[in-house]
Order: sequence, then C-alpha cells, then structure tokens
Amino acid sequence: MRTPFIVGNWKMNKTAAEAIEFVHAVADELPAATKVESAVAVSPLYVQAMAEAAKGSPLEIMGENIFYEQAGAYTGEVSPQVLKEVGANYVLLGHSERRMYFHESDEIINRKVFAALKAGLKPIICCDETMGRQAAGDKIHWVVSQILTDLRGLTDEQMKLISIAYEPSWAIGTGKSATAEQAEEGCYLIRQTVADIYNDEIANGIRVLYGGSVNPSNIADLMDRHDIDGVLVGNASLDPDSFLKLVNYK
Ligand code: G3P
Repeated sequence: MRTPFIVGNWKMNKTAAEAIEFVHAVADELPAATKVESAVAVSPLYVQAMAEAAKGSPLEIMGENIFYEQAGAYTGEVSPQVLKEVGANYVLLGHSERRMYFHESDEIINRKVFAALKAGLKPIICCDETMGRQAAGDKIHWVVSQILTDLRGLTDEQMKLISIAYEPSWAIGTGKSATAEQAEEGCYLIRQTVADIYNDEIANGIRVLYGGSVNPSNIADLMDRHDIDGVLVGNASLDPDSFLKLVNYK
C-alpha cells in the first residue's frame, strides 16, 4: 500500500549540461509513478531546467536543502517557496553531510520541515547513525532523539506528507551497505518511533527509506523488507543506466 520510492541524491555532482542529458536519457523509460515513484535531488541551480525537461514524465526533480525562512536577508540561501516555484515537489532535509559540514542541528531541521511544508514541499528527513554510536550500543537512543526533535509539533495531517530516510554514516559512500537486516532494523525503529509519537495509522502510512551504498545489485534484497519502502542513493544514481536499474529493481 506504500508506493516504493527510489530517490537519487546527486550531492554536488554533475554539470548543468550533464543534468539535462540525464533527464533525456531516463524520463521516457520510467515506470508509471503509481508503481514506483522516482526522484532525483539536485543542485538548486538545475531544478528549473531539469523539471521543464522532465515535464510529462514521472521523474520528480527535487531539492537537496532549503533555508527555514521563505525570503529575506539570508545571503546565499535557498528559498523554499522559490524551490517550489521552479518545479520541485520534494526536498531532502538533514542529510548527514548537512549535519556534519554545515552544523545543522535537529532544531534547525525541525524549522526547515515547517518551512518546506509551508511552501508546499514534501520533506524527506534524513537521520544518521555513526559507527561509534552503533558500537557503543547507542543507536536506538540516537536515531530516536533525532526524529523526536525533527518531527516536533507536526500535526497528523502534516505527517502524511513526510518521508524519513535512515542513513548510517558508515555506509555512505563507502561501498559497504548495511545488510538488509541492519537496514530493516533501522527503518523499523523509525516506524515504531512514529507510532509511539503519533499512532499506527500514521506510522503505517509513512514511507521510510534506507540510504548508504545502495546499488543495482543490492537494491532488490533491501526493497524486499517489510519496513523499507524506498532507497536514497548517492553514487549509483548518477549514471542514467544505473538509475533505471534501481527504479526497475523488481
Ligand atoms: O543520500 C544518499 C547517500 O548519502 C548515500 O550515498 O553514495 O553511499 O549511495 P551513497
């Protein structure tokens, strides 16, 4: 009942010309969005041109980040309302690279969640987990504490617009994906946390994604798990053929 969601995260990769070439290569090859939803999170510089090139196809072009105000004296920041205006319907929030290099706290991410919803953008909220915390047995506390703050104050109706991604930092860009069991455990923990804060109906409706070294060879095993509704993919989403293989994982 939850539509699988395959999301690429390009980070700071590709030229503007390569971004358009990608859309031309994949747009007509994708399955209908009712079967599998697909999106790529890209630089805000590419969103408008890519969204125009993707018009009529199920490919969603989305943002990688926004600021928590719609407009104002915030030099260099990305406005949520403008990201929506130029063609995005989704935005990634709280990616571990944002947390690590830009010191984004869960309080900031919570403000960004509200700013995204106000602008009509659906957030995919990322939570991470470091090797140190996993080794110290601190995983549950850490993942739960991020979600509690990231979701603070959201109504039941707003929760229906949210997806959450479990991305252990130790699996990102390392070529060492979490096992399907570990990924399922993280996604299950997130769904249980949502059930504890809200209720089973909200928890069973929300899409929970796994991210970290997903590729065309390991996606099917991950997507086979009950609590993994989608994947968030970095490196393996850059090449059009690889992206199409991910979307056609079945
Ligand atoms: O957001 C996706 C990501 O951080 C995982 O990257 O390259 O390990 O698939 P990668």
